[in-house]
Amino acid sequence: MRSHWSNRWAFIMATAGSAVGLGNVWKFPYMTGTNGGSAFVLVYLLCVALIGLPLMMTEIMLGRRAQRNPVDGMAYLAAEAGGSRWWQGVGYLGIAAGVLILAFYSVVAGWVLDYGLRAASGSFAGMTGAQAQGAFLDFLADPFELLFWHSAFMFMTMLVVAKGVTSGLERANKIMMPGLIAILLILLGYSLAVGDIDRSLDFMFRPDFSRITPGAVLSAMGHSFFTLSLGMGAVMVYGSYLQRHVSIARAAFYVVLTDTAIALIAGVAIFAIVFANHLEPASGPGLIFQTLPIAFGQMPGGTLFATLFFILLAFAAWTSSISLVEPAVAWLIERHRLGRARAALLVGGLVWLLGIAVLLSFNAWSDITLFGLNFFDQLDKLTTNIMLPLGGLLMALFAVWVMRAAHAQEELALNECNYRRWLFVTRYVAPAAIVLVFLNLIGLLPLV
Ligand code: PFF
Repeated sequence: MRSHWSNRWAFIMATAGSAVGLGNVWKFPYMTGTNGGSAFVLVYLLCVALIGLPLMMTEIMLGRRAQRNPVDGMAYLAAEAGGSRWWQGVGYLGIAAGVLILAFYSVVAGWVLDYGLRAASGSFAGMTGAQAQGAFLDFLADPFELLFWHSAFMFMTMLVVAKGVTSGLERANKIMMPGLIAILLILLGYSLAVGDIDRSLDFMFRPDFSRITPGAVLSAMGHSFFTLSLGMGAVMVYGSYLQRHVSIARAAFYVVLTDTAIALIAGVAIFAIVFANHLEPASGPGLIFQTLPIAFGQMPGGTLFATLFFILLAFAAWTSSISLVEPAVAWLIERHRLGRARAALLVGGLVWLLGIAVLLSFNAWSDITLFGLNFFDQLDKLTTNIMLPLGGLLMALFAVWVMRAAHAQEELALNECNYRRWLFVTRYVAPAAIVLVFLNLIGLLPLV
C-alpha cells in the first residue's frame, strides 16, 4: 500500500513547497532583468494562466489516477486507454529533467546557505554595491567553498527523501513557507520605504514590446514551467499520493496563486533595491546575492532579517529539491524494488557528481563553453526551455487525446462548463502555444 498525504492541506502545502523555491526568489528576478523586464513578465503571467494552471490540474489528475511513479504511471494509464507503451517515455524524460535540474539547483542552494552564514556574522552591515559584487565574485571563484555548500545541501535533501513521503515531506513543509512570505513582505516594506519603487514597477509592468525577442518568449514560457514544477512528473508523483476526494482544481489554483504572488513580490522588492542603488538589472544569476546584502546591510535589524531570509529561502529550495528527485526515487522503489534509502543514495550521488561539473563551470571550467554558454547555462536552458515544456506538451496531449474523457472527467470532478474550459485549453491552447514558441525559436515562425 502506498502512503498518502494526511489531508488536502498537506498536499497543497507540499505542492506549493515544490513550486515555491529558488525559481521565485532567485531565478524570476534575474530572468526578468536579463530579458528586459515587463514584456518578459507579461508573457510569463500569460503562460502561468493559460498553460500553467490547466497543466497543473492535468498533472495532478494523471498522477492520482495512476497511483504510481511517472514512468509506471504513464505506462499504466496508456494501457488503460489502449495507447502505446511508449508514453512511459514521458516519465523517463521527467526523471532525467529532475536529476539535471537538481545538479544546478543544489549548487545555487549552496550559495544561499553560505549567504545565510555571512548574514548571521553581520558582514552585510554598511555594504556598498561594489563590495557586494566583489564578495560574490570572490565566492564564485573558490570551487572548494562551492563544493562544500553543494555537498551540504545535497546531504540535507537526500536525508529527507530517504525518510519518505509522509514523515519527511509533510512536517518540513508546513512551517517555513508562511515564514518566507512574511520576510518577503518585510523586504517589500523596506523597498517601499527607501527603494526606487516607481522605477521597479515601471520596469516590471509597463509593457515595452520593443525588448521582446524569441529567446525571451521561450525563457518566459520555460520559466512558467520551472517555477510551477511542471512538465517533469514532480507534481504527478505528488498527485499520486493524493486521496480520491480532494478537489484537484482548487488545490492547483491555490498553488499557482501562491507561487505567482511570491515571485512578483520578490521581483518588485529586488528591482526597487537595484534601481535605488544604481545596480545593473541584467547582472544575471548573481542578482539577488549582489543586491540583497546592500538592502539588509542598511535596514534596522538587518542582520536578523537577512539571516532569517536566507534560512527560509534555503528551506524553500529544500522542499523543491525533494520534489525534483521524488519521481526518480519513486521509480527506483516501485519498479526496481530498491529500498527508499538506497534509491535516495543512488540518485543523490549522481546529482552530486553532476553538480561538481556545474560549480566548476563558474571557475576552473569557465572557459569550456558551447554556443557561448557554460555548463550551468547549458543545463538550465536544456531543462527549463526544452525538457519541461516538451514534457508538459506530451502530458497535455496524452490527457486529452489518449486518455478516455470519462476517466479524466471523473478525476477532475469539474462541472460541465469548467470541464469544457479545461478541455479546450488543454486540447488546443496550451499545445499550440508550446509548439508555436518552439517553432518561433528555431526561426520557422518569425512572430516576434
Ligand atoms: N519550482 C521550483 C522553483 O521554482 O524553485 C523548481 C522545481 C522544482 C522545478 C521541482 C521543477 C520541479 F519538478
